[in-house]
Amino acid sequence: MGRVRLLFVCLGNICRSPTAEAVMRDLLEREGLSGAVEVDSAGTGSWHVGHPPDERATAAAARRGIALGGAARQVTREDFETADLLLAMDARNVADLRALAPSPAAAEKVRALRSFDPDAVGTGELDVPDPYFGGEDGFGLVLTHVQAACLGLLAEVRARLAAAR
Ligand code: 4NP
Repeated sequence: MGRVRLLFVCLGNICRSPTAEAVMRDLLEREGLSGAVEVDSAGTGSWHVGHPPDERATAAAARRGIALGGAARQVTREDFETADLLLAMDARNVADLRALAPSPAAAEKVRALRSFDPDAVGTGELDVPDPYFGGEDGFGLVLTHVQAACLGLLAEVRARLAAAR
């Protein structure tokens, strides 16, 4: 069976992308696809390298039965070789990643995560808003957006696995 490698990317790698990583990991486990898909996350910035996920993000995820883990790291040019898709949380992350991409083909691996959510595409609002400087509500909203988009991403993963078979 082929493998698909997903890298979720936000600014700090302590709120949104660890949340997306954990949500997708949980979904893949429940679908019996963990063995076929690699999931990781990284940040475009370096401020929080080595730090665990934000406590507010961890608490919001726990309320939905999702456990966050890992330590923050910064995205590298090698990530464009090892990942099949780099899933950006907002337009700034998309722009920063495309600027970092070592080739046009690498830049094409960069997608807004919410571009996999038909409702988000319908409204044209593709950002998962940065919750870091806001209130608790922002963290629940991150989960709502991420959970919807990951369902669409799961369909994309299934299509890629079928094409690689
Ligand atoms: P994240 O949130 O990109 O979802 O991990 C942020 C975390 C830290 C900062 C900004 C956003 N910061 O400016 O330190």
